[in-house]
Amino acid sequence: MIRIESVTKKFRRGDHVVHALGPVDLQIDKGEFITILGPSGCGKTTLLHMLGGFETASSGRVLLDGEPISRPSRKLGMVFQEATLFPWKTVLQNIAWPIEQTGVPRAQALDRATAYLDKVGLHKFGRAYPNELSGGMRQRAALARTLAMEPEVLLMDEPFGALDAQTREEMQEELTRMWQASGLTVVFITHDITESIFLGDRVVVLGGKPGQVMETCRIDLPRPRSAATKSDPRVLEYRAHLWDLVRRGAAA
Ligand SMILES: Nc1ncnc2c1ncn2[C@@H]1O[C@H](COP(=O)(O)OP(=O)(O)OP(=O)(O)O)[C@@H](O)[C@H]1O
Ligand SMILES: [Mg+2]
Repeated sequence: MIRIESVTKKFRRGDHVVHALGPVDLQIDKGEFITILGPSGCGKTTLLHMLGGFETASSGRVLLDGEPISRPSRKLGMVFQEATLFPWKTVLQNIAWPIEQTGVPRAQALDRATAYLDKVGLHKFGRAYPNELSGGMRQRAALARTLAMEPEVLLMDEPFGALDAQTREEMQEELTRMWQASGLTVVFITHDITESIFLGDRVVVLGGKPGQVMETCRIDLPRPRSAATKSDPRVLEYRAHLWDLVRRGAAA
């Protein structure tokens, strides 16, 4: 359903041009969970921004169901590394607000927001303000806000990067649970190799400058995956293989 066809991205910086990405070709199926790994600066965020309609490709095409992605749309939900919540709104208002912006009446938007708060385990915190939440809870609220828009594709840029290890594992398990129940397509950027394996149906390794797809690695681990999955011996094999690729991608 998503096709990335010979996509490149160049940025103009002063009087020179930065070739940030590509050419990249990638096809993502509906309902697939794709994780993207790669060294810093190889163009992961740039690629995600093009998928979200925030940036346009310098050449090539990015298609969703055959239509070019040229601007942000409700079908495409984005979750950033740092939860960006309005500090002056309660958690519930933060989630309901973007729904209201789409023309949904307030009462209905609040109902929907409540349902999604429930899904991320924050039902008791609807009336709290963002500064009263822990980092993990804020990230949960941001996830609920994006999910409440009921997108088809969830784009996540190192969403758990700022969380402590234990919260991060909980969030990974929760995300896989929600994803399996929803039929969403997910594109998830991470620097954490174990996370990329645990979450992904396929891990796409980007590398080099400009970044290109070095390899797409299918993860043949049964679902549902749980904490125990991480000690499966195949995880160690995938880890070693992906480590090697990322290292080569950084050197390229
Ligand atoms: N708006 C911009 N203007 C100029 N150059 C940019 C812009 N955005 C990104 N770049 C450059 O494009 C390249 C890729 O950046 P990008 O943020 O996509 O990397 P990344 O893989 O997400 O890195 P990280 O892992 O550190 O987040 C970098 O060289 C970066 O400096
Ligand atoms: Mg990035």
